[in-house]
Amino acid sequence: MEIEETTGRIAEQLEHLKRYTATPGKGCTRLPFTKEARQAVEFLRKQMEEVGLCVHEDEAGNIIGIMEGEDPGQPCVMMGSHFDSVINGGDYDGIAGIICALEVARRLREKGLRRKRNFAVVGFCDEEGMRFGNGYFGSGAIMGNRDAEYCRKFKDTDGVSIYEAMQGYGLDPEKIGNAKWPDGSIGCFLETHIEQGPVLDSEGTEIGLVDCIVGIQRYMVTVHGRSDHAGTTPMDMRLDAVDAAAKVIGKIAGWAREKADGTVATVGYINVLPGGVNIVAESCQFTVDIRSRNNDNINDIANRIRKALEWETKIMGGSFEMESKLSILPVNLDQDILGIMEESCRKHGYSSRYLPSGAGHDSLEIGQVIPTAMLFVPSKDGRSHCPEEFTKYSQLAKAAVVAGDLVEKLLTDEADRRG
Ligand code: GLV
Ligand code: MN
Ligand code: MN
Repeated sequence: MEIEETTGRIAEQLEHLKRYTATPGKGCTRLPFTKEARQAVEFLRKQMEEVGLCVHEDEAGNIIGIMEGEDPGQPCVMMGSHFDSVINGGDYDGIAGIICALEVARRLREKGLRRKRNFAVVGFCDEEGMRFGNGYFGSGAIMGNRDAEYCRKFKDTDGVSIYEAMQGYGLDPEKIGNAKWPDGSIGCFLETHIEQGPVLDSEGTEIGLVDCIVGIQRYMVTVHGRSDHAGTTPMDMRLDAVDAAAKVIGKIAGWAREKADGTVATVGYINVLPGGVNIVAESCQFTVDIRSRNNDNINDIANRIRKALEWETKIMGGSFEMESKLSILPVNLDQDILGIMEESCRKHGYSSRYLPSGAGHDSLEIGQVIPTAMLFVPSKDGRSHCPEEFTKYSQLAKAAVVAGDLVEKLLTDEADRRG
């Protein structure tokens, strides 16, 4: 019965949150510092208040609810995920993990246990990096890795900086440093997330215990040529930015295929200026996202891209920029915490397995410093970052039960080493 109630509450909240999209009927588009993000945050705030959490929005736009323990000075247990989405994405990526954390808080409250330390439920702002090309904005801020200069530097494709977008959203980017949590104040971090890949669903496994997350580098590349008449400019007298960029882009996937360790590389955005059928391209801009469990592979591909750009733009007679948007190392998650959750899966009769994550998560940013663990639940047919993304609420409920066991243990266990 308990698990049915949990399933029902998760379903109700996620069904409600589905409406906060800029693209109704075409998946979830909830970009950071937009009306849809604000609506989701206000809904989460209300849910957190209903559970009796002490709620505030921090200077980075994260929404945080605290359930106080007897000694708030002890390092807290933090659980959460992100409320933003990609463009035309799904209704579960990120947001389902916040709702699971809320459910853990609700179950804890219902049990009325004595808690030694604080439990923090967090909805992170801008994990995806969809709008500004970066990633982990909110979780980076709580770790003290974001400042006003960072906010000025990154701009969306309309030229709006994070700095300006934050101001329009009612936040003061000059104060972003205040979002940092003091060193030692977070004892451990836990994130529940949909798998976004096919492994659990194809095997029929109920819970994934994530043992590592890939490192990621992201770049915005701009190749500069010269705009000219497409009919009158001979092939050997043009500076064609698309021709040079395409020669480099065409090699990137092959370089990733040569590598092991789950290495992938993606060009997900291309923009050509001025963008006319009869104009030689003046510039060609594209993004690159490179991931691997082995950071050497990422560095090697990034270097090859840089060298190829040097070569192709030299031949063309143009130039290029390769701006780093994100660089984060792979991370191993906490074996002790995972072991506790594996035991809990066994106790409840849920099938589980260890697996790595090829997707990035707030856990990647936080896990660089703080003991961190993740639970995955199956994604139907492995689909994600698309409107077809689907996970059963009953499966999320099982993850909430396992996470709840862990959080309860960490909050009540005197001898826990994370104190
Ligand atoms: C986020 O979902 C990412 O892996 O890019
Ligand atoms: Mn996510
Ligand atoms: Mn995502």
